[in-house]
Formats: sequence, structure tokens, C-alpha cells
Amino acid sequence: MSRILVVDDEKVFRSSLAEFLRGQDYSVKTAGNGEEALELLEDHDFSVVLTDIRMPRVNGLELLEEVRARRPEMAVMLMTAHASLDTAVNGFRQGAYDYILKPVTLEDVVHKVENILDQQRLRQQVDRLQSQLRERLGFEGIIGDSEPMQQVFDLIDRVAALPTTVLLTGDSGTGKELVARAIHERSEVADEEFLAVNMGAMNTELVEAQLFGAEKGAYTGSDRARDGIFRAARGGTVFLDEIGEMPMEAQAKLLRTVEHQEVMPLGSSEPVSVDFRLVAATNRDLEQMVEEGTFRRDLYYRLNIFHIELPPLRDRREDIPALVDHFIAQHARKLRRPAPTPTNEAMKALMGYDWPGNVRELSNVIERAVILASDEQITLEALPGNLMDCETEGGAMSLDCVVERSERDHIRRVLELTDGNRSEAADVLEVDRATLYRRLDKYGLD
Ligand SMILES: Nc1ncnc2c1ncn2[C@@H]1O[C@H](COP(=O)(O)OP(=O)(O)OP(=O)(O)O)[C@@H](O)[C@H]1O
Ligand SMILES: [Mg+2]
Repeated sequence: MSRILVVDDEKVFRSSLAEFLRGQDYSVKTAGNGEEALELLEDHDFSVVLTDIRMPRVNGLELLEEVRARRPEMAVMLMTAHASLDTAVNGFRQGAYDYILKPVTLEDVVHKVENILDQQRLRQQVDRLQSQLRERLGFEGIIGDSEPMQQVFDLIDRVAALPTTVLLTGDSGTGKELVARAIHERSEVADEEFLAVNMGAMNTELVEAQLFGAEKGAYTGSDRARDGIFRAARGGTVFLDEIGEMPMEAQAKLLRTVEHQEVMPLGSSEPVSVDFRLVAATNRDLEQMVEEGTFRRDLYYRLNIFHIELPPLRDRREDIPALVDHFIAQHARKLRRPAPTPTNEAMKALMGYDWPGNVRELSNVIERAVILASDEQITLEALPGNLMDCETEGGAMSLDCVVERSERDHIRRVLELTDGNRSEAADVLEVDRATLYRRLDKYGLD
């Protein structure tokens, strides 16, 4: 039963309105002024508050302000005998849901109240569906409730609608391509193309033809003219994946394209203007490549305007259960099998593992587990042996294993802090260098 609070200093009016509403099957409480109303609000919930404006002590507009602040989910409707539009407008500005002029007809009040309740029900339904969808799909299909992923989502939100170039870095399988697509989906050019080219394993000519286009016969084996991805984008998003693999010659041309928004197709001497938004990704350390002279510094600066780093999965283990659910559902659907549930032990092993291949590796492990599941359960047996491996005998959750894991994580973090300087790291860790070296060896860190 919907609950309504009637607030008015005229006793006869408020009791007759309350009586009438009760007759319509609402649960009603009354208050003689804003102060009494606020007291009732302390320990009662209402869907709708109907309040007079002019009342002693706390008036209707003050009450409205308090309700907005404390219980924003409650709708407030103002009732006023002093038919000044100003007051009503003021009330609207402060977030009143509606107003009604006195003298009121009781039917009118009920009609408005029903409208409010309908809207509230719809809103709740939409909220519920949205949160179900968010749970299922995460952010544009990217799952991640962890703090580091929330920061990633925040960065995506901030930059997506701008034409700014975005550089995505992160280990293999951390979701760079997924993020590139999310940026496109949330951009102003979401209706245009999203075109991806992978720079890996291509010779210079092919990379250049794919990016900048080529005249027919411009290079060996080219049997037709090509537009190239920048021309084909026509205002959409160009995603250059594995940009760290780009040949040096092509890098020079890319710089020109990014700076002047034009391409020079292979075999042509006429520049063509192009219109695109650029997102680039790599799992290489571009800064180091710049130092080594294998990546152009000027291009690096051009790309590194807005940088989003995807955290490795081992640094956001709290995301693992949701990802596991997501991939179980996905692979079970694809394989047309019932969706199994992981046992507690299996989930612990999944959460304890290091995931060098990140989310992609997790997805593969789950696919295999869905196939190997028995009785709709994913047990330890359905997981690859190395998930349970530890240098020691015990399983992934044995104390020894957990201690080793945190030792290894800690050493890795300290090495990051000292930029890989081992003597400094040994000092911070308060061990001698020989001990540190033994650990690095043991854990395969370098
Ligand atoms: N947070 C996530 N939520 C759901 N799926 C994810 C998430 N991160 C990655 N995936 C999935 O994992 C797989 C690998 O992700 P993606 O291809 O985006 O990684 P990547 O960083 O581009 O890797 P690489 O550097 O190897 O190209 C994809 O199938 C992707 O859909
Ligand atoms: Mg990728």
C-alpha cells in the first residue's frame, strides 16, 4: 500500500483529505506543520508528501528543501491557496514534483497522486533493469567494479566525447581493444565507422597501404587501388593496435597524418585530407622504445596526449568473480551447455592465480572449464594444473602459497618504485642483494 504524508496547518482540511485518501486505499499520516512532518520523516517512509506552503514554524518550501536533501526518492507536491505562480515556480526549482491550487477537489489530488506513483513505479523499474544490465554488461560490456577499473571508466567518460587522441597501454589481454570500442561508442562519432588495423606482423608497404591507401600497382603485389583506413574512416574512429610494432618509415607518415589530417597514398604525390579520431594501443613500453631509438619521439608525444593504462588482472583480483560469471555465461551459451557454477575451492584458485595473460587467459580457462564441468559444477579438476601450482607443495590457497604470492607481488611493486634499481630495492626491502637476487630468480622477475 502506498504511503502518503499530508501536511497542512488547517486541521479540517488535512483530516478530510486524509480520510478521502484512506478511502482510496492509501496509508496516510498527517502533520500540522513542517516541523511535525520532519519528525515523522525520521522513522517513516512515504512515497508522496502533500504539503501546504504557508505554515507556522517550518513552512512548505523549507520542508521541500529538507526532503530533497534527506529523502530524495520521495516526491513532494505543493498545495497552495495563495495562487502565486512565483511560489510554485520557486517550488519547482527546488525540486517539487507538482503543485495544486487550493481550493482543491479531492479527485484532483488523487489523480495527481496516482500520476506520481505511476512515475515512481516506472522509474524503479527502469532503475532495476539498468542495474541488472550494468551487472551483466559492466561498462559498455567491460566488467570491473574494482577501483582501478572504475578509474579507467572515469577516464573513458571524460575523453570519449572529445576529438582527442587516446593512447591505451597495458599488458596483453587486459582489454585495450574493448576500451577502444567503448571510447568510440561513447563518442560523438559513434554512428560512424570504427576501423581497426593491427600493426603486428606486416611489412612496411602493407602497413602503409592499409593506413594511407595506395594507387594500383604502387607496390609489389598490389593489384588494386586502396583507400586506406584513414580515408575510409570518414569522421569515424581509427584504432591502431600494437602501434609499438609500427615500422619507422610508416611512423613518419603517421605523424604527418596526425598533424595535418592528410594522407599521401602510396604511388601518389597528391595529399588527400582525411577526418578521423585516433585511438592507439600497445603492450610495449613506448617510452623505452623512444630511448632505444625504435619509436619516434615526436610521434610518441603526439600519441601520448591522453593516456589510459589498463591494470593487469592480478592488481584487481576483486573483479575476478564477476568476470568468471560473465565468461561462464558467455561460453555456456556459445557451447550450448548449461552454465556451471564454480565450487568455492575452484573460485579461490581462480582468484589466487597470477594471470599473466590477464582477462583473455581467464576467458580461455573458463571456456575449457565449461567443457570439463561435471554435474554443472566447475571443480579444481576442471582448471588447468598450473593454476594450483605453487613452488611449494600445497594448493593455491595454502599458507605457503599465499605468502609466496604476496612476497612476489611486493618485490615486484618495490622494483617498480625503484625503476628496476635492484640495490635500491634491496635497501627498501631490507634484505641483502644476494637474497633479492635469489628471490628474483625464484619468481622469474627481472
Ligand atoms: N574487463 C573486461 N570485461 C569483459 N571482458 C573483457 C574485459 N577485459 C578483456 N575482456 C575480454 O578479454 C579478451 C581480451 O581483451 P582485448 O582483446 O581487449 O585485450 P587487449 O588488451 O587488446 O590484448 P592484446 O594486447 O593481447 O591485444 C577479449 O575477448 C575481451 O572481450
Ligand atoms: Mg588487442
